[in-house]
Amino acid sequence: MRESLGRLLRRTGARRDVAAEPATGLESARRKGPARSALSASRPAALAERIERAPALDRPVHALSQTVVRALPPGPRADALHGVPFGQPAHPALVRMPLGCWTSAVLLDFFHGTERASGTLVAVGLAGALPSAATGLADWSALHRHQQRVGLVHAISQAGATTLFGASLLARATGRHGNGKLLSATGLAVATVGSYLGGHLALRLGAGASHAEPIEHLAALGWHDLCPLGELPDGRLIRRQLGYLSLLALRQDDAVHVLSDHCAHLGGPLHQGRVVTVRDATCVTCPWHGSTFRVSDGAVIHGPATARQPAFESRITESGWVQVRPRARRGR
Ligand code: FES
Repeated sequence: MRESLGRLLRRTGARRDVAAEPATGLESARRKGPARSALSASRPAALAERIERAPALDRPVHALSQTVVRALPPGPRADALHGVPFGQPAHPALVRMPLGCWTSAVLLDFFHGTERASGTLVAVGLAGALPSAATGLADWSALHRHQQRVGLVHAISQAGATTLFGASLLARATGRHGNGKLLSATGLAVATVGSYLGGHLALRLGAGASHAEPIEHLAALGWHDLCPLGELPDGRLIRRQLGYLSLLALRQDDAVHVLSDHCAHLGGPLHQGRVVTVRDATCVTCPWHGSTFRVSDGAVIHGPATARQPAFESRITESGWVQVRPRARRGR
């Protein structure tokens, strides 16, 4: 990227920082007191929000996203990188290796006689950076655009940190331990900025979290009327409302499979997806990023979703109504 991030953000005219706006009277007085520290504390979040709204990042986002999608077609390799076999995204677990090693190396650098141990930790962290980057890129390629903007800056920060630690290892290997320590400390600072953005992406913007998790808590206990069986054409995905909940129903002869309609990955409308057969099981594929769930129990067959899609038990009453209730899980 030839332009600096700061220049890109300024060009977009994204939302100005609240503290920079003119203030008068009571508002001005309020800003001078303890509230100033609160505003300062919110500045990192404000910067992350500005990145979310920075369309100037869209060109590199699009180019990188296309590259990743081309290099990583749907299949077992993509599923493994998303973390489907583990039931949750692999990226958060893998980033602990480089970040933990690098933090430890910088701390050891404050003590005498630890050069060899620090150098080893820097090298191990560098080895762990590659799988971290691969899993992160796989997850990033299946996000919304505003999430991808934050993810791109997060990735640039972590790539910068990795480069600095690589340079640090080189300096240490050639006996320039002072330079090595300085490069490591700078790398850790950059990695911390990147980690903050990663936290914003996961915890504020919900990347990697299950978007279907609260569903079972929104459905009251017991059986509920959903719709007459005659309203469900055989083999077609139909959306039906149950109170606040949007449910997906798929009739197969006299059996009705019911899942939450909001995809666990990012909330996509499953009823607009496709019915497919995978390993002899009837599944639904999400129209947004292709996550595939088994309709009988919501199990994840293909990612990027890693969390099971909430499933409902169903039964047909004598009067021909379909009734549903949440599948039994742990206590609520
Ligand atoms: S919302 Fe992404 S796969 Fe469904």
